[in-house]
Amino acid sequence: MKTRVAVLLSGRGSNLEALIEAGQDAYEIVLVASNVEDAPGLAIAHAAGIATFAHAHQGLKRAEFDALIDAQLRAQDVEAVALAGYMRILSEGFVEGWAGRMLNIHPSLLPLYKGLDTHARAIEAGDHFAGCSVHIVTTGLDDGPVIAQARVPIMPWDTPDTLAARVLIEEHRLYPRALAEYVRML
Ligand code: GAR
Repeated sequence: MKTRVAVLLSGRGSNLEALIEAGQDAYEIVLVASNVEDAPGLAIAHAAGIATFAHAHQGLKRAEFDALIDAQLRAQDVEAVALAGYMRILSEGFVEGWAGRMLNIHPSLLPLYKGLDTHARAIEAGDHFAGCSVHIVTTGLDDGPVIAQARVPIMPWDTPDTLAARVLIEEHRLYPRALAEYVRML
Protein backbone atom coordinates (compact mmCIF):
# COMPACT_ATOMS: atom_id res chain seq x y z
CA MET A 1 0.00 0.00 0.00
CA LYS A 2 1.28 3.46 -0.87
CA THR A 3 1.40 5.97 1.97
CA ARG A 4 -1.03 8.83 1.46
CA VAL A 5 1.05 12.01 1.53
CA ALA A 6 0.07 15.68 1.58
CA VAL A 7 2.51 18.35 0.41
CA LEU A 8 2.37 21.83 1.95
CA LEU A 9 3.91 24.66 -0.05
CA SER A 10 3.89 28.43 -0.37
CA GLY A 11 5.54 29.09 -3.71
CA ARG A 12 7.13 27.73 -6.85
CA GLY A 13 6.63 24.04 -6.21
CA SER A 14 9.72 22.62 -7.88
CA ASN A 15 10.17 20.14 -5.04
CA LEU A 16 6.53 19.12 -5.40
CA GLU A 17 7.20 18.50 -9.07
CA ALA A 18 10.20 16.34 -8.20
CA LEU A 19 8.15 14.39 -5.66
CA ILE A 20 5.46 13.77 -8.29
CA GLU A 21 7.86 12.91 -11.10
CA ALA A 22 9.85 10.48 -9.03
CA GLY A 23 6.74 8.31 -9.25
CA GLN A 24 7.76 6.46 -6.12
CA ASP A 25 5.86 3.30 -5.39
CA ALA A 26 6.15 4.03 -1.66
CA TYR A 27 3.91 7.09 -1.55
CA GLU A 28 1.05 8.80 -3.34
CA ILE A 29 0.50 12.55 -3.13
CA VAL A 30 -3.21 12.93 -2.45
CA LEU A 31 -3.36 16.60 -1.50
CA VAL A 32 -1.37 19.80 -1.98
CA ALA A 33 -2.22 22.57 0.46
CA SER A 34 -1.01 26.15 0.56
CA ASN A 35 -1.25 29.31 2.63
CA VAL A 36 -0.79 31.32 -0.59
CA GLU A 37 -3.85 31.24 -2.82
CA ASP A 38 -1.97 31.85 -6.06
CA ALA A 39 1.14 29.80 -5.29
CA PRO A 40 2.51 28.50 -8.61
CA GLY A 41 2.93 25.07 -7.02
CA LEU A 42 -0.85 24.71 -6.96
CA ALA A 43 -0.93 24.73 -10.77
CA ILE A 44 1.60 21.89 -10.79
CA ALA A 45 -0.75 19.92 -8.54
CA HIS A 46 -3.76 20.67 -10.77
CA ALA A 47 -1.86 19.57 -13.86
CA ALA A 48 -1.05 16.30 -12.13
CA GLY A 49 -4.68 15.79 -11.10
CA ILE A 50 -3.93 16.16 -7.40
CA ALA A 51 -6.53 17.73 -5.07
CA THR A 52 -5.59 21.14 -3.70
CA PHE A 53 -6.57 23.34 -0.80
CA ALA A 54 -5.49 26.97 -0.62
CA HIS A 55 -6.42 29.55 1.94
CA ALA A 56 -4.70 32.83 2.82
CA HIS A 57 -3.43 32.79 6.38
CA GLN A 58 -3.86 36.56 6.83
CA GLY A 59 -6.44 37.48 9.46
CA LEU A 60 -6.37 34.07 11.13
CA LYS A 61 -4.50 33.11 14.26
CA ARG A 62 -1.73 30.60 13.63
CA ALA A 63 -3.54 27.76 15.40
CA GLU A 64 -6.83 28.56 13.63
CA PHE A 65 -5.20 28.48 10.23
CA ASP A 66 -3.38 25.26 11.00
CA ALA A 67 -6.65 23.70 12.16
CA LEU A 68 -8.08 24.42 8.69
CA ILE A 69 -5.15 22.65 7.06
CA ASP A 70 -5.36 19.80 9.55
CA ALA A 71 -9.04 19.25 8.78
CA GLN A 72 -8.21 18.95 5.07
CA LEU A 73 -5.45 16.45 5.76
CA ARG A 74 -7.69 14.33 7.98
CA ALA A 75 -10.52 14.48 5.41
CA GLN A 76 -8.16 13.04 2.80
CA ASP A 77 -6.92 10.29 5.14
CA VAL A 78 -3.42 11.68 4.87
CA GLU A 79 -0.80 9.55 6.62
CA ALA A 80 2.30 11.71 6.21
CA VAL A 81 3.06 15.35 5.41
CA ALA A 82 5.92 16.71 3.29
CA LEU A 83 6.72 20.41 3.63
CA ALA A 84 8.15 21.67 0.35
CA GLY A 85 8.85 25.38 0.54
CA TYR A 86 6.13 25.95 3.11
CA MET A 87 7.26 29.33 4.41
CA ARG A 88 5.09 29.57 7.46
CA ILE A 89 5.91 28.55 11.00
CA LEU A 90 3.57 25.83 12.19
CA SER A 91 1.71 25.90 15.51
CA GLU A 92 2.82 23.53 18.23
CA GLY A 93 -0.53 21.74 18.15
CA PHE A 94 -0.24 21.00 14.44
CA VAL A 95 3.34 19.77 14.76
CA GLU A 96 2.41 17.57 17.70
CA GLY A 97 -0.58 16.18 15.80
CA TRP A 98 1.76 15.05 13.01
CA ALA A 99 4.72 14.11 15.18
CA GLY A 100 6.96 11.61 13.43
CA ARG A 101 4.84 11.90 10.28
CA MET A 102 6.01 15.22 8.87
CA LEU A 103 9.20 15.95 6.92
CA ASN A 104 10.72 19.19 5.67
CA ILE A 105 13.42 20.00 3.15
CA HIS A 106 15.71 22.86 4.06
CA PRO A 107 18.37 24.38 1.78
CA SER A 108 21.36 24.10 4.08
CA LEU A 109 23.54 21.52 5.74
CA LEU A 110 21.62 21.52 9.02
CA PRO A 111 22.30 22.31 11.80
CA LEU A 112 23.96 25.18 9.91
CA TYR A 113 21.82 28.09 8.72
CA LYS A 114 18.32 27.50 9.98
CA GLY A 115 15.81 30.05 8.74
CA LEU A 116 16.18 32.26 5.68
CA ASP A 117 18.97 33.36 3.30
CA THR A 118 20.87 30.12 3.77
CA HIS A 119 22.96 30.41 0.60
CA ALA A 120 24.06 33.99 1.22
CA ARG A 121 25.03 33.05 4.76
CA ALA A 122 27.07 30.03 3.63
CA ILE A 123 28.96 32.17 1.08
CA GLU A 124 29.45 34.96 3.59
CA ALA A 125 30.91 32.50 6.10
CA GLY A 126 33.48 31.32 3.54
CA ASP A 127 32.15 27.74 3.62
CA HIS A 128 33.49 25.31 1.03
CA PHE A 129 30.29 23.28 0.92
CA ALA A 130 26.57 23.96 0.99
CA GLY A 131 23.66 21.59 0.56
CA CYS A 132 20.23 20.53 1.64
CA SER A 133 18.74 18.49 4.44
CA VAL A 134 15.56 16.51 4.92
CA HIS A 135 14.49 16.42 8.54
CA ILE A 136 11.64 15.32 10.73
CA VAL A 137 9.60 18.35 11.76
CA THR A 138 9.58 19.22 15.45
CA THR A 139 8.44 22.40 17.16
CA GLY A 140 11.85 24.11 16.80
CA LEU A 141 12.38 25.95 13.49
CA ASP A 142 14.32 23.70 11.04
CA ASP A 143 15.36 21.74 14.09
CA GLY A 144 14.23 18.11 13.98
CA PRO A 145 16.39 15.02 13.37
CA VAL A 146 18.07 15.05 9.95
CA ILE A 147 17.35 11.89 7.94
CA ALA A 148 19.12 12.73 4.65
CA GLN A 149 21.58 15.28 3.36
CA ALA A 150 23.28 16.13 0.08
CA ARG A 151 26.15 18.54 -0.38
CA VAL A 152 27.58 20.58 -3.21
CA PRO A 153 30.79 22.60 -3.48
CA ILE A 154 30.68 26.38 -3.16
CA MET A 155 32.66 27.94 -6.02
CA PRO A 156 34.62 31.15 -5.52
CA TRP A 157 32.40 32.89 -8.08
CA ASP A 158 29.10 31.75 -6.59
CA THR A 159 26.34 34.20 -5.83
CA PRO A 160 23.40 33.20 -3.62
CA ASP A 161 21.41 32.54 -6.82
CA THR A 162 23.96 30.34 -8.56
CA LEU A 163 24.49 28.39 -5.36
CA ALA A 164 20.73 28.05 -4.81
CA ALA A 165 20.36 26.59 -8.30
CA ARG A 166 23.09 24.01 -7.63
CA VAL A 167 21.57 23.05 -4.29
CA LEU A 168 18.07 22.85 -5.79
CA ILE A 169 19.17 20.13 -8.22
CA GLU A 170 20.23 18.09 -5.20
CA GLU A 171 16.98 18.87 -3.37
CA HIS A 172 15.05 17.35 -6.26
CA ARG A 173 17.13 14.18 -6.07
CA LEU A 174 17.17 13.92 -2.31
CA TYR A 175 13.60 14.60 -1.26
CA PRO A 176 11.75 11.88 -3.22
CA ARG A 177 14.29 9.30 -2.05
CA ALA A 178 14.20 10.40 1.58
CA LEU A 179 10.40 10.59 1.65
CA ALA A 180 10.04 7.14 0.10
CA GLU A 181 12.50 5.61 2.54
CA TYR A 182 10.85 7.31 5.48
CA VAL A 183 7.26 6.38 4.73
CA ARG A 184 8.26 2.75 4.26
CA MET A 185 9.20 2.76 7.93
CA LEU A 186 5.90 4.22 9.18
C1 GAR B 1 13.44 25.13 -1.55
O1 GAR B 1 14.75 25.53 -1.81
C2 GAR B 1 13.29 24.64 -0.13
O2 GAR B 1 14.42 23.94 0.32
C3 GAR B 1 13.12 25.92 0.61
O3 GAR B 1 12.27 26.69 -0.19
C4 GAR B 1 12.51 26.34 -1.56
C5 GAR B 1 11.17 26.01 -2.18
O4 GAR B 1 11.31 25.81 -3.55
N1 GAR B 1 12.56 25.71 1.91
C6 GAR B 1 12.87 26.42 2.98
O5 GAR B 1 13.63 27.37 2.96
C7 GAR B 1 12.18 25.98 4.28
N2 GAR B 1 12.84 26.48 5.42
P1 GAR B 1 10.18 25.07 -4.38
O6 GAR B 1 8.85 25.77 -4.06
O7 GAR B 1 10.57 25.26 -5.80
O8 GAR B 1 10.15 23.62 -3.97
